Amino acid sequence: MSNNQVNVQTPAPGSQDNIKKFFEDRDWKFYAAVAAGVTLAGAGAYYLTQSSPPKKKASKKAKKTKETPETSPSAPAPAEKQQETPAATDAVDLTALSDSDIEQLTSEERAKVAQGLKEKGNKLFSGKKYKEAIDAYSQAIRFKKDPIYFSNRAACHSFMGNHKQVISDSNDALLLDPTYIKAINRRAQAFEKENQLEEALYDFSCVCILDGFKNDNAGKSMERLLQQIATTRAAEIMENKPHRLPSTAYVNAYFDSFRPANIDVPTTTDETTGDFFFAKAFNATVAKDYETAAQAIDKAIELGCSPACQAYALNLKGTFVFLMGDSQGALDYLNKAIEADPKYVQSYIKRSSIYIEQQDIGSAFKDFETAISVNPNDPDVFYHRGQIRYISGDYESAANDYSESVDLDDTFVFAHVQLGVVQYKMGSISKSMTTFNNTLQKFPNSADVHNYYGELLADQQKFAEAVDMFSKAIELDTKNPIPYINKAMLKHQAFKEADEAISLCKTAFEADPACDAAVASLGQLYLERGEPEQALTYYNLAIDLARTQPELEHAISYVEATKTQIKFSKDFPEAAAKLRSLRQ
Ligand SMILES: *[C@@H]1O[C@H](CO)[C@@H](O)[C@H](O)[C@H]1NC(C)=O
Ligand SMILES: *[C@@H]1O[C@H](CO)[C@@H](O)[C@H](O)[C@H]1NC(C)=O
Repeated sequence: MSNNQVNVQTPAPGSQDNIKKFFEDRDWKFYAAVAAGVTLAGAGAYYLTQSSPPKKKASKKAKKTKETPETSPSAPAPAEKQQETPAATDAVDLTALSDSDIEQLTSEERAKVAQGLKEKGNKLFSGKKYKEAIDAYSQAIRFKKDPIYFSNRAACHSFMGNHKQVISDSNDALLLDPTYIKAINRRAQAFEKENQLEEALYDFSCVCILDGFKNDNAGKSMERLLQQIATTRAAEIMENKPHRLPSTAYVNAYFDSFRPANIDVPTTTDETTGDFFFAKAFNATVAKDYETAAQAIDKAIELGCSPACQAYALNLKGTFVFLMGDSQGALDYLNKAIEADPKYVQSYIKRSSIYIEQQDIGSAFKDFETAISVNPNDPDVFYHRGQIRYISGDYESAANDYSESVDLDDTFVFAHVQLGVVQYKMGSISKSMTTFNNTLQKFPNSADVHNYYGELLADQQKFAEAVDMFSKAIELDTKNPIPYINKAMLKHQAFKEADEAISLCKTAFEADPACDAAVASLGQLYLERGEPEQALTYYNLAIDLARTQPELEHAISYVEATKTQIKFSKDFPEAAAKLRSLRQ
């Protein structure tokens, strides 16, 4: 597996699953890699395949560290199992010594007394006499500010459920010894108990990073907290997020995945009719002016259309509602559209993609069957069923569907493209290349063919040819952000031209400011360049652009991870420098 893969599994448009797939692939190990600043090339790339996160095996070989299971803080300070120092315990009434008395002692004397008190504390601790142990440690601290004493006292507080004190004692321990992993771990647990989840996540992350990802418990806690934070915050954001259209490229791709509708657009000029607004919406959709289209179709539905176009109008309304991220609402409109005209096959196809989103595969395939029984010669049905089969890994059947679609109508470019892609996935490389070669000749002006062909060439390490394909795709359609991003990632990974990669992604972002792929790629490029602050800006933008809960959760995870990286390198400059040297 090379890291230089441009994604071969990006399905041609129509099923937005390429995008969803990436976002659902949320893996805490990505988080760990980003947080540690050891981002691998490709690890978080939007369009790049799921290269594995760092191969720091968390579990298997992990030696049992001295870390304590979270439920039972350690027997205090196993590091300090020395022989007892009788002199100290013999000491008279130490508590009676005033601070100025203590100052009179030599540091050796103080250390000795403190050590004795600590041992006393440890014994009390073992006997579960936490309150008394706390007193002993507090005394010890008067004689010597030792991180272990603070940490042991924190352990007592932890048993007593005084989480605020755990935090404050751990803070003191960490002031004295910032890389005292046990203290960080304990503070993390206390933060979690106090519901300071972000602080807890940060501390657990530090434990993982400082400990070389050998601490299983901290790893699991990190994962759990990350999920909790991302899920909760995403749900909050979703609640207040207005439904709006995704990037133009995305909407284009969706509409392009259907052959041009063969319908009689109403010609009425009567602006009080639904038919007029349906025609307006239809025209605007063709002109790719989706905002206008969305408004016009609202009006059309409000006014109601004549029977001849009511089903089309409901279908278009359902489409926009779906694209705006309201699947349930879209389902209602498509149901109505099917009721209005059960012979309009496209409504079944669109409804099936909602079922897929709702993970109801059975209903999705049932709709395809119905659609085929209504019109066994509709090439769109086969193309879209192929998409679903492709996504679910049933390549053989997908290839049959694409072929069927091409046989029924060979003027639809994406059926050819997907056929070539699925052949490639099945290992028939030369067959696939021939398909692409032929498709290229049949559609010499299609940016999409060039783009997908480029992806396959890149996957075969034919980097120069791939770059040419992406460049040609850009030339043919300067508004489509995807070829820029593909070219950028290839320039970055195969040719180490990071500056050009960034500039290409910025152009993609300008071409389509709602393009989440551009934003995610920029985030990754800056991360890899060791500029996490810049990366953070883009990941924050990704939160704004995300439309679904999984997308949001993913973007939030990246924001959290990047913030951790920034804070970690401030808090632990040496460890961070060491990690940076591990890059590449
Ligand atoms: C839609 O487009 C057709 C063909 O270009 C045009 O004749 C018609 O007036 C347009 N209708 C509306 C409502 O914009
Ligand atoms: C594609 O076709 C051209 C000419 O039509 C040919 O020169 C080239 O070798 C073909 N490439 C592949 C990969 O089949």
